[in-house]
Amino acid sequence: MSDLPLSDELYQCLRDLLLDRLGLHFPASRRTDLARSLSLVAQDLGYSDLGRLYTALLVGGPVWDTAIRHLTIGETYFFRNSSQFAALRERILPDLLARRAATRSLRLWSAGCASGEEPYSLAMVLADMLPADTGWQVSILGTDLNLDFLGRAREGLYGPWSFRETPDAVRNRFFSAEGARWRLRPEIRRNVIFNRLNLASSEYPTVTNGTMAMDLIFCRNVLIYFNETTTRAIIDRLYEALAPGGWLVVGHAEPNATTFHRFETVNAPGTVLYRKPPDAPLFATATYAYAAGVPIAPPKPLRPATPAPLRSHSILREPATPPRPPAIRKEPPGTGSLSRQNLAAPAPDILAEARAAANAGRWERAAELADRTLAAEPMRAGAHFLRGQIYEHEGQSDQALDAYRRSLYIDPTLAMGALAMADIWRMGGQNADARRSYRSALRLLEQFAPADAVPESDGASAAELRAYIKTQIDLLDK
Ligand SMILES: C[S@@+](CC[C@H](N)C(=O)[O-])C[C@H]1O[C@@H](n2cnc3c(N)ncnc32)[C@H](O)[C@@H]1O
Repeated sequence: MSDLPLSDELYQCLRDLLLDRLGLHFPASRRTDLARSLSLVAQDLGYSDLGRLYTALLVGGPVWDTAIRHLTIGETYFFRNSSQFAALRERILPDLLARRAATRSLRLWSAGCASGEEPYSLAMVLADMLPADTGWQVSILGTDLNLDFLGRAREGLYGPWSFRETPDAVRNRFFSAEGARWRLRPEIRRNVIFNRLNLASSEYPTVTNGTMAMDLIFCRNVLIYFNETTTRAIIDRLYEALAPGGWLVVGHAEPNATTFHRFETVNAPGTVLYRKPPDAPLFATATYAYAAGVPIAPPKPLRPATPAPLRSHSILREPATPPRPPAIRKEPPGTGSLSRQNLAAPAPDILAEARAAANAGRWERAAELADRTLAAEPMRAGAHFLRGQIYEHEGQSDQALDAYRRSLYIDPTLAMGALAMADIWRMGGQNADARRSYRSALRLLEQFAPADAVPESDGASAAELRAYIKTQIDLLDK
């Protein structure tokens, strides 16, 4: 098929729209690529010209999924860039394992993970360095814009090209052959949670989508698609997403070093690493001050504004950003929980299965199991909390609020219930409610020692959550 005509005016409109919503940059030198990709989008959707496609994009909805499918490049493979994986083993993880020895928990994020090879490589390295019986809690988050890539990542089935830099012995250890392909073993696969997240949006870091207090972020070969302003804003947000002393690894062809001026630079053989200074405050109280650049406007909503939009900057009708990934945990959860219902939880397996389904992105199944739990045990706070997360994923903020409210009514000690409600109110612009609920969450967190993992928080410590909440209150007070 030959490319559809792209006039100067239409090129500018489409270029600006894609920059605004996705951060993707199509300068004049890439105009032909843009015309090519958009012609494929138009063909898939049955549009005969790019003007119609532009109008459809303005209206929003699944058309964006098709556009993203053709506009993103998911080139990746396991253990890509061996010098960075050597640095991970020899420099980064020894530092983090020492730093986190007291809490024995680690939070890793592969931002722009494509079909999952990168976060799964992290999981394999950790499986080597932390055998299963050491009692560490490791959470690995993989996020991307492209839903097809995320679907493949969750499936965990890979062809030979993904193993182009993987020694056979490593592949044989972690995968089992399935025809001409290889399936990742479930014990590695279940360590990684995949969710959609648009790095060009301002929806992170938040507790709600699990993108805060990270120990390590891999964001490789993603920033090359953005312009300098967007890149600087993303680097700033990734900085905020890291815990003090946390590490950032970017690809080799990534922006020049001045973009990383807030980080310490650490040279390792064959690569440069960035670290948030260990003495940095847990959360900066500035807005995500784009210290070195011009702020980018958050992408505008494509759907008509609702009175209290949960995600006003969503690029799609479907929520673009998922809720904080719920952690799979055994009941009673965490340490220091005073929650009543956890003391006598008669059907822990169904709720655990519901959480596992949510973790795997099988939201319908998660909802069905959560509902079954609630039918059998209407006073199960954890099930109401999970229901709230599922509603949030569906973009139903009112129902989510109701579910969180119920969880808190049943278990008045559930700090995460108050925190989740506060986040929804803040995102919907209901600042007084948000402030009040953040303050309740702070009071509820007083029951924990600073290093305690807080129930329903995916392993975040009480100190981290307190700092997060104080930052949010500061921002609301400005
Ligand atoms: C070349 S792949 C990199 C994969 C992996 N990080 C690696 O280095 O092997 C780039 C990925 O960035 C994703 N991406 C592009 N724009 C994005 C955005 N605005 N938000 C999140 N991910 C994005 C693409 O969908 C694609 O999967």
